[in-house]
Amino acid sequence: MNRDERLMSAPVRLALAALAVMLVLSIAVGFLWLPLVKPDFAQGGLWEAICRAAGVPATWYQPLAKEDPGASRFPIVPVPATFAGGDIGRGGTLALNCTMCHGARGVSSSDVPNLAGQYGEVTFKQLVDYKNGQRAHALMQGLARGLSEQDIRDLAAFYAQLPRPAPAPESEPVPGVVAVGDPMRNIAPCASCHGGIDKKPGSPWLEGMPQAYLAAQMRAFAAGTRRNDPHGVMRNIARQMKPEEIEASARYYASRAIVAGQTPAAR
Ligand code: HEC
Ligand code: HEC
Repeated sequence: MNRDERLMSAPVRLALAALAVMLVLSIAVGFLWLPLVKPDFAQGGLWEAICRAAGVPATWYQPLAKEDPGASRFPIVPVPATFAGGDIGRGGTLALNCTMCHGARGVSSSDVPNLAGQYGEVTFKQLVDYKNGQRAHALMQGLARGLSEQDIRDLAAFYAQLPRPAPAPESEPVPGVVAVGDPMRNIAPCASCHGGIDKKPGSPWLEGMPQAYLAAQMRAFAAGTRRNDPHGVMRNIARQMKPEEIEASARYYASRAIVAGQTPAAR
């Protein structure tokens, strides 16, 4: 027997024939019989049925299934592009409507957030979010609805250049969550976005803010009652924080000594 004869010996031919029959049978069962008895099997068409059988997605590029209706649609863009054209003088006049709560110079004496020295893109985004209902607060929403985009630009420019509050006499020690976070719970250090290690666009300046306000915002992020943070960055962090960490970081930022008169421009 030479080599070719051995290859095509009877058992080999039999095996090949069996293989061919099996192939035909499985195609018939998979694509003809099954779709006939179970119409939903091939509902999405032949291609989807094949993909489902193979366990791979039928379409690789699908738009995100559901858009989070509460999520902010405001894109974070570099500072000058967001509120360029802000008229500081006009902003100062408009700000007369804000002084009774946010203070004559943007520094509040109650538990209302400070606006003096806040990054322009933050004030701009927060006001746009109140205006569009992405950030809920009856009072601020009502006020923001009456502001045009140009008004908001001007207010943001005005508050950005006001001097920040003078340093607190005593500073708290830096809590771990602020300086190093907790990788095991997916908490990035606060300082990696809010300044200290790095300043990410859109992250508010927190130093000197009222402690009660800061803690309330973190609790609101954790509970999901505030949900205007892009990609849920703050919600994901706040949900992982223990109540005592929320208190400690709020106390720390509220007490943080800052260079008197420092504005974002002088950063
Ligand atoms: C009657 C009091 C009151 C008045 C008047 C007022 N605000 Fe507010 N503002 C608040 C309170 C309270 C908050 C915190 C709301 C929250 O918890 O979301 C706030 C929040 C804000 C924030 C968000 C700050 C941050 O750090 O996220 C901005 C920006 C702001 N106000 C701008 C303004 C401007 C501009 C005006 C004037 C056109 C104004 N506010 C008038 C009470 C007031
Ligand atoms: C990955 C970046 C990132 C990290 C890390 C981060 N934050 Fe934030 N934080 C943001 C952004 C962005 C916002 C503004 C969300 C928005 O657009 O409303 C914010 C908002 C806040 C606010 C609301 C401030 C205001 O005036 O409205 C507080 C309070 C806050 N962060 C505290 C913290 C604390 C405390 C930590 C650390 C435990 C922390 N954040 C870590 C990005 C971050």
